[in-house]
Amino acid sequence: MARLVVHEEKIPMEVKVGEESKWICMCGLSKNQPFCDGSHKQTQDEEEGKLYKYENGERVEVKDF
Ligand code: FES
Repeated sequence: MARLVVHEEKIPMEVKVGEESKWICMCGLSKNQPFCDGSHKQTQDEEEGKLYKYENGERVEVKDF
């Protein structure tokens, strides 16, 4: 079984654990879930109103949705 999940956030969420900051991935692209690995930088130039999928590090616009 497979599913598609849509993420709209382009930046991580900071969570404080005591004095330490942990950065939680909100874009869905991190290979170190649930933590941010910087992959969200790929999303910064996404255009509003468009849908993209990421496969093997490459972004492709989804036209039929
Ligand atoms: S928010 Fe997803 S990799 Fe940084």
